[in-house]
Amino acid sequence: MALSDYSSELIATAQSLASPGKGILAVDESTKTIGKRLGSIGVENTEANRQAYRGMLFTTAGLGDFISGAILYEETLFQNHADGESMVNKLGKLGIIPGIKVDMGLRPLVGAGSVETLCTGLDGLVERAADYYAQGARFAKWRAVLQITSDGCPSPLSVRENAWGLARYARSVQESGLVPIVEPEILMDGDHTIETTARIQEHVIQEVYHACQANGVLLEGTLLKPSMTVQGADCSEKADPAKVAAMTVRTLERSVPASVPGIVFLSGGLSEEAASVYLNNMNTIERKAKWNLGFSYGRALQHSCLKGWAGTNLEAGQKALLARAQANSEASLGRYVPGSQPSSDEQLFVAGYTY
Ligand code: 13P
Repeated sequence: MALSDYSSELIATAQSLASPGKGILAVDESTKTIGKRLGSIGVENTEANRQAYRGMLFTTAGLGDFISGAILYEETLFQNHADGESMVNKLGKLGIIPGIKVDMGLRPLVGAGSVETLCTGLDGLVERAADYYAQGARFAKWRAVLQITSDGCPSPLSVRENAWGLARYARSVQESGLVPIVEPEILMDGDHTIETTARIQEHVIQEVYHACQANGVLLEGTLLKPSMTVQGADCSEKADPAKVAAMTVRTLERSVPASVPGIVFLSGGLSEEAASVYLNNMNTIERKAKWNLGFSYGRALQHSCLKGWAGTNLEAGQKALLARAQANSEASLGRYVPGSQPSSDEQLFVAGYTY
């Protein structure tokens, strides 16, 4: 099987994931990262506790009204719920498409700036993706990370290497029937202005699509997962939601081909409320391109939910998850009324965050 055999399925899957009013739940934290999350509520990082937490998420009645897909870590894709049914089946019952994080994490990019990384996992990826497809996954994620610094990062080497890695990944998983979520995250670390982020992000995304073109990626069967165009976390000039929305839309209109069906943002350390408000603002702007502007949040969907669950409280966890899922669904249609759902304003940004 090859990309050409899967092309109509890839297009259909990408369109379902980008359905208006729906977004993606990112639950693909590595074992180390989920350990930090569980630790924050005093729960030990054991397989049984990870199973209990994610099992709670995937049995939230009505979640499929707002969520089209869930990105899983490999352990979860092959895991059963405590009741014996597979996690994949639990998601299927809610009408949620399972996806899988396929990158193997970041490594230092030697020859580039000291904070710069490349994303690993290309070796054997076509075969791994085929195994994930057989297990029920229909889409994939690969997160490349770029950082803006006062000494010239992202360097040309980092931009080129990360764009190329994203394109090789995208082509490799399409070969095995998975829709690639292409994620060039620009970290919020730094004191740069929103204008600087916009200038750099435009260039980064343009390079990603040049690389996709060189690798024969079927763009109609992909999604883009960018960070929003925001100033650095330490910048004293804070852009208001209207400006963030306008700058983000401008960046995307200057860099994303119209053939990409959907753009799903990461939350990147924004508070739950800010992630919804910014997205809502974007969806009230008259736009030139027709791509759906949605969400693929991790922290901004799970923060209150994790606290509500606190290790045992299924009902409180599910209620909080559903509230944020509904809020972001409304935001993706430009209909979110700030504060209409319980949320947290707590900044989730952590300097030097590793996912
Ligand atoms: P955040 O929304 O917490 O940034 O996570 C999304 C994600 O999948 C990052 O790769």
